[in-house]
Amino acid sequence: MEYIRRLTESLEVWQFVVVGVVTFVVMRKLRRYFTVLKKYTAEGKTILITGANTGIGRAAAIEFAKRGGRVILACRDTEKAKRAAYYIRERTNKGLLVIKQLDLSSQDSVRKFANDILATEDRLDVLVNNAGVFGLPYGLTEDGIETTFAVNHLSHFLLTNMLLDLMRKKKHARIITVTSMLYARGIIDIDDIVKGGHKSSSYSQSKLANIMCANVLSSRLAGSGITVNSVSPGMVKTDLARHKIGESFMKNLMYETVGRLLLKTPEQGCEMIISCALDPDFKSTTGKLFRNGQKLELNDVAKDESTALRLWDVCMDLTNLH
Ligand SMILES: NC(=O)c1ccc[n+]([C@@H]2O[C@H](COP(=O)([O-])OP(=O)(O)OC[C@H]3O[C@@H](n4cnc5c(N)ncnc54)[C@H](OP(=O)(O)O)[C@@H]3O)[C@@H](O)[C@H]2O)c1
Repeated sequence: MEYIRRLTESLEVWQFVVVGVVTFVVMRKLRRYFTVLKKYTAEGKTILITGANTGIGRAAAIEFAKRGGRVILACRDTEKAKRAAYYIRERTNKGLLVIKQLDLSSQDSVRKFANDILATEDRLDVLVNNAGVFGLPYGLTEDGIETTFAVNHLSHFLLTNMLLDLMRKKKHARIITVTSMLYARGIIDIDDIVKGGHKSSSYSQSKLANIMCANVLSSRLAGSGITVNSVSPGMVKTDLARHKIGESFMKNLMYETVGRLLLKTPEQGCEMIISCALDPDFKSTTGKLFRNGQKLELNDVAKDESTALRLWDVCMDLTNLH
């Protein structure tokens, strides 16, 4: 009897879990038909997105193009970028698409790219620092910087600083950094940052550095008309996990099935980026972190101003911006 009672009880738990999961999946799937995005316009604006050939960056590029923006797809592989432009054009014939090569694992590439933008563009209304890597095996870039930190943070730091004067040309411009809630597991290991640090994962550290430097920049640009905000897209089914999943058939199958059911689509994942970039209500919002339409409180580590200022100076040194 006891066995049957326990079985019935555990069946109830399972029913509860199954109903919960099914409800979650159905709600998530239905949500795409009730998009929270308003019809903001990007008409007349130039928007630069790093890593726009796939995932969240490409989804954001589609939304900006649909709204009539001139969208610069900054991608490391121009063939992939051309395929992305074709993909975007299959979905909208609005807006303008410009493809530019940018490899964030090389500061030389970042400098060439930024100088090209400065020479060819007469305005930059929105900069979306989106490109990122996760789960990369340990390695150093040609500049001797740990690759995840270099790609996710340091090169975007350099790029942003090089493009500030162009953004200043108009009364108002917005910088958006795509970070991750994994920032909360990060610790800034200043003394070892070049080698990726050893106090937390390099990804978490890079995403924490994104937020801290975005907030320093936001303070420095106070009153300039340029706003700087961070966005966490949530868990989104993209190519980001590629280095973790590798070639394994089973892992890919799991990711495809579970990912499709439980993770956000890239279209859902880019919604907050579009709002931060175009919503008139965000015009003077700066130095904040957003996720799912909500402003989030930062943890104490991210709020530590003295570490943020030290980090800023180290990044200036590492990118020879001093
Ligand atoms: N997906 C999620 O659940 C999630 C969660 C939290 C935060 N995020 C953040 O969202 C952002 C976008 O990621 P995603 O999920 O859309 O991933 P994704 O599909 O893998 O896209 C990443 C993009 O970054 C580009 N990239 C990587 N290394 C680069 C380099 N050296 N130079 C230039 N571009 C480079 C990739 O180009 P290639 O295709 O050529 O490699 C790709 O376009 C990232 O910053 C990520 O940390 C994502």
